[in-house]
Parts: sequence; structure tokens; C-alpha cells
Amino acid sequence: MTPDPTKAARELLGFYLESGVDALVDEAPVDRFADEIPPPAPAPRVERTAPSAPRMQAASQAAPLVGTAPAAPDAAIMSARAAAKSAGSLEELRDILKGFEGCALRGTAKQMVFADGNPQARVMLVGEAPGRDEDIEGLPFVGRSGKLLDLMLAAVSLDRTSVYIANIVPWRPPGNRTPTPQESQICLPFVLRQIELANPDILVCLGGPSAQTLLGLRDGITKTRGRWFPFQNGAREIKALPTFHPAFLLRSPLQKRYAWKDFLAIKQALNG
Ligand code: URA
Repeated sequence: MTPDPTKAARELLGFYLESGVDALVDEAPVDRFADEIPPPAPAPRVERTAPSAPRMQAASQAAPLVGTAPAAPDAAIMSARAAAKSAGSLEELRDILKGFEGCALRGTAKQMVFADGNPQARVMLVGEAPGRDEDIEGLPFVGRSGKLLDLMLAAVSLDRTSVYIANIVPWRPPGNRTPTPQESQICLPFVLRQIELANPDILVCLGGPSAQTLLGLRDGITKTRGRWFPFQNGAREIKALPTFHPAFLLRSPLQKRYAWKDFLAIKQALNG
């Protein structure tokens, strides 16, 4: 039987779509297997970086990605800072962010995902970036990992009326890839202002990237989860707790016991 090229092409596109590829970034395909992968950098000895200057450095030193848009300049970070600072309320922040053009992810995402839950809540949870379901619904954590998050919250008598939820990056990266350090740094001033305006007592960082970006930690989540860190929220110091990301728990269910401990600690801190 002669193969049907149209059918084969359709199947291949279906495979790409299933794998999370939903955006074309270049005219011609890029063979990433042909790219030389640099050896991993040696593990840093310092656990914690100073708050903002090193974060800027990390952004500007990030290696450019092959075949993607040109690296956003530090100017985007500076303009994000000025824009975020000018917001006097969460509503204003949402509007300003919606009009912000410094992050290329807004061009590939269906819509911005700003927040869900109760902005007056004492607990604020911050994830990494929206996925496919969040991109469609415009709300954070509504997919499979969101369902698990809801169960984890319910286990300590919390729900979306008693927590406020956001992400470091408010636009879905194409194919659910990890946001680049530069994308995170560009969006960081907005989420920092969001935390400041929401003014929670407890900040929960869902996953390593959130903890590293918000708390300036270098260590991975396995080392930092379950430990309380001070977080300077505007003029006020609050407590921050890194814990496992629900998506990681879906892949590694045995780790749920540690997340359970962390959520009990959150509950205890709320009651204490
Ligand atoms: N993962 C995240 O980090 N955030 C979401 O909103 C959904 C999945």
C-alpha cells in the first residue's frame, strides 16, 4: 500500500500537538540534537543570593536560545519595574500587565493568567507559569496539577476562598516549556508588586523555580522545601515556605508525604 503523505503529515502534527508543540517560532526547523550542549556548571556553594542585583545578572547572562526571538534587553526588566511600581491596586496591576509588551510570551499565549482566589487571603501561593488548561481558562492551576492543589488545600481546610494564587510568569510558555530566566526576570517585578498589594501573611512557593526566583535561593526544591524563609514584602517581613509543585507530585506521588507536612506547617502558622 502506498503511504498517504497527507495522513502522515496530519499524524505528525497531532503528535507534535500532543507533545505540547503549539507554536511555530521560525521559518525553518532547527535540529536541536545537532546543537552542542554545554556541560552543566558546577554546583554553586553559596545557598542564597542577595535579593535583586544577582537576579538581574542571571537574566542578562542567560544563554540565548537557538531559533527563538532575540533576547529581551535589560530595558524590558527596567520598564517592568517602573510599570509594576506604578500600580496602586491589584486591578490596576492587572490592567498594566495586560498592556505590557516587554515579554514575548504574550505573543504566543492565548491570554494572560493573572490570579485566582481571594486577594484578601492570608496565604498566597505562587507557581511557575500557566499550562495549557490555564491558558484556555485564564485562571491559574485549573488543570491536573490544579486539581491536586485543590485537594492539598482541602486537606488543611483551605480552598480558593481562603488563598490567593498567582504565577511568576502570567503567560503560558509555548509547549509548556520552562520559562527562560530572562522571561522570569521580566515578569518578576509584576509578581513582586502583586504580592505586595495582596499583602499576605504567608507566601508559599510552589516548586523550585518559584522559590528560586522569589526568594533568591540557589538550592533546588528538595533542599529548600519545608523551611521557612523571611520574605521582605514592601515594608513588611513575612514568612515564605517553598514546597513541591503539584505537577511534580503527580509524577512522584511518594513525595506527597513531604508536601503534606508542608501544608500542615502552613496551617499551623496560620493558627499560631
Ligand atoms: N503550573 C503552574 O506553575 N502554574 C499554573 O497555573 C499551572 C500549572
